[in-house]
Amino acid sequence: MILDVRFTPSAFASGTDLRNATAVVIDVLRASSTIVAALMSGAREVIPTDSVESAVAIAHRIGSDRTVLAGERNSVPIPGFQLGNSPASCNAETVSGKTVVMTTTNGTRAFQQTHGAQMVLCGALMNARNVAQRVAAAGDDQRVVLLCAGSYGQFSMDDAIGAGAIVRELRDIAGDNLTILDSANAALQLFQQAERDVSEALLQSDHGAHLAKLGFADDVRFCAQLNVSAAPVPSFDGSLLRIADPASAPQPQLRF
Ligand code: MLT
Repeated sequence: MILDVRFTPSAFASGTDLRNATAVVIDVLRASSTIVAALMSGAREVIPTDSVESAVAIAHRIGSDRTVLAGERNSVPIPGFQLGNSPASCNAETVSGKTVVMTTTNGTRAFQQTHGAQMVLCGALMNARNVAQRVAAAGDDQRVVLLCAGSYGQFSMDDAIGAGAIVRELRDIAGDNLTILDSANAALQLFQQAERDVSEALLQSDHGAHLAKLGFADDVRFCAQLNVSAAPVPSFDGSLLRIADPASAPQPQLRF
């Protein structure tokens, strides 16, 4: 198994770089954490989409009684949407049994750029170990690319730390069967530096500080939870995200 990390969406070419690879999309603050929280709280599925207009159109098509609109622009909730991009707001009461149609500035768009990949998963700190187990279960003969959603096309520390957490878990599971490329090693080192206090590391990152300034410090702390045992591994089929392994059933309770 070869493990690579791309720190920004522009560092990979959709359709070529990912051909036959296993891709893991990571947006720790906050899209991938919110997707994990929604499925953990019993959402039927999450549909990531790139614009407010398409989110509204999809929700309209499926039916407003069966959907919840969620997302942000510039980190603040979108007018008319039921939910913002706060993972803790995705609880059983708000999302259970619903299709969450979600649009965010960077994270949901990253899923649109995974053409060609054999398997696409959604990774966060919350489900780092479970993602690594899911990837390892697919066998040793694979190229694994961890795709950081970044922030407006730039490097984002929260995603790099999340990627490093998954590298560490994979290293512990796959051992000698894993080739860790320099990019993955760099992410691992960033994670190891942050591990002593992941919340603090995220709060000190550019995006974490920005979210705290807007009053979302609790979201940052929520997203910093490492390896929540029941956190599911969402799998993307090109249009929607569902729990990859039905055995990891939705949990009604979130830990935070
Ligand atoms: C994104 O997808 O750009 C992020 O999740 C932004 C945010 O923190 O809301």
